[in-house]
Amino acid sequence: MSDNDKAIVADGSPAKVSLQAGEQYSFCTCGRSAAQPFCDGSHKTTSLKPLRFTAEKTEDAWLCCCKQTGKAPFCDGSHKELYADQIGKAL
Ligand code: FES
Repeated sequence: MSDNDKAIVADGSPAKVSLQAGEQYSFCTCGRSAAQPFCDGSHKTTSLKPLRFTAEKTEDAWLCCCKQTGKAPFCDGSHKELYADQIGKAL
């Protein structure tokens, strides 16, 4: 597997965002977007695709920026297992 098939750890902590019920969002899964935690089209150089989801309710939510979560797009605490020198690297 090349690095273009792997997500980059965009950050070592999640991003707090305000979601609006019924709105569609594109969550960055490749870690290359400059608009974390959302997609900016940077995945086009990879085999990865954004995760499109519709917010079920209006709320503040913590979305994953380490791209290691098992509950995408939401943070599941997996970032706590990372080392600081893994930020910006493909895992
Ligand atoms: S930021 Fe990815 S699991 Fe928390």
